[in-house]
Amino acid sequence: MSYTPTALERAAAQPVPEASELAGEFTRLPHPNPATPEEREAKMAKMLFGKDFSDHMAHATWTPDEGWHNKQVEPYGPFALDPAAAVLHYAQEVFEGLKAYRHDDGSVWTFRPSYNAARLNHSARRLAIPEFDPRDFMASVVGLVQADKEWVPSASGSSLYLRPYIFASDPFLGVAAANRYEYVLIGSPSGAYFSHGFQPINVWVEPHYHRSGPGGMGDVKTGGNYAASLLPKVHAHDEGYDEVLFLDGATNMNLDELGGMNVFVVMDDGTFRTPKLTGNILPGCTRSSILQLLRSQGRTVTETTIPLAELLADIKSGKVAEMFACGTAAVVTSIGSLTGEIAATGEKFHVEIPNSEITKQIYDELTAIQLGHAEDKFGWLYRLA
Ligand SMILES: Cc1ncc(COP(=O)(O)O)c(C=O)c1O
Repeated sequence: MSYTPTALERAAAQPVPEASELAGEFTRLPHPNPATPEEREAKMAKMLFGKDFSDHMAHATWTPDEGWHNKQVEPYGPFALDPAAAVLHYAQEVFEGLKAYRHDDGSVWTFRPSYNAARLNHSARRLAIPEFDPRDFMASVVGLVQADKEWVPSASGSSLYLRPYIFASDPFLGVAAANRYEYVLIGSPSGAYFSHGFQPINVWVEPHYHRSGPGGMGDVKTGGNYAASLLPKVHAHDEGYDEVLFLDGATNMNLDELGGMNVFVVMDDGTFRTPKLTGNILPGCTRSSILQLLRSQGRTVTETTIPLAELLADIKSGKVAEMFACGTAAVVTSIGSLTGEIAATGEKFHVEIPNSEITKQIYDELTAIQLGHAEDKFGWLYRLA
């Protein structure tokens, strides 16, 4: 079956200059007191996701007169931010997430960074934020990771998680697109996302709240979507569930995605289904990679509307073999159960999906490419250092 790549996939396939060409495009201001090797090792031993940060950060500023300027890799540290800064009031910000992996020979690589560069701009356009040149995006990643190479861990399942973001720093309380923005990239050494390893997760299917709605911002990576997901996540955690699956905001009947991951269903005939990109779903890089991987293996994957009622019936009848969620942080994680309530009828449900062999295979195939253990057939890897 022929397949038309998305705009993000086309952007991600563009050639990127090598790291040696980009190194130095962000001026390095070395940290006067970087962590000692002992301090760094202590933090790297714990590797709690997103809690500790490397010595430096990349930073650039946008103003109408100068565009993006002051591109530098500087010591990691707090900003002086005016209390009127627009982001604090109207949440004009966008972000990304990618990882730097250490390969067995000590070299450091990242995975489809141009996808993240393109998606950052896709998000920026929606929030009336000036676009950030993908070359600068790449140069910031190269600059930070080369400065903080020692912070890229080598333990199994670990990486330096990279968080690029742009926010409105203009001190102005009018509801308007700002006149000053900061681009920042920080790095956090991270172990495996789920502390209990490759264990199926129990998912709460949220009957009332949505993370986004038609015409909203569901297909872009902006803080507001995540803020909207927190209350249902707190409720779900209180009840013992690991994650929340959101339904579409228009009908409250069809699967959208988890708070931070896309979702796939594996049918017992060996075909796969995933919610189609409706504009309410984040076009995940991992989702795109899995689609490409499966299609290259001749497997049938349908991007379609997946009604919850149909999914539950298919799980009960055994037509669904497995279900999994995917995203940069967790890569691929098996969904072991779905629990919730049909909002229209109040009917409660709990279904279990016991198998995860195919999910584990996909996890293994994808991580083997990321770690340099399998051939990079799709040209997804980029050497940073
Ligand atoms: C809402 C949401 N969906 C899906 C994903 C998965 O996207 P990716 O695979 O690019 O990390 C993420 C994480 O970035 C996310 O926040």
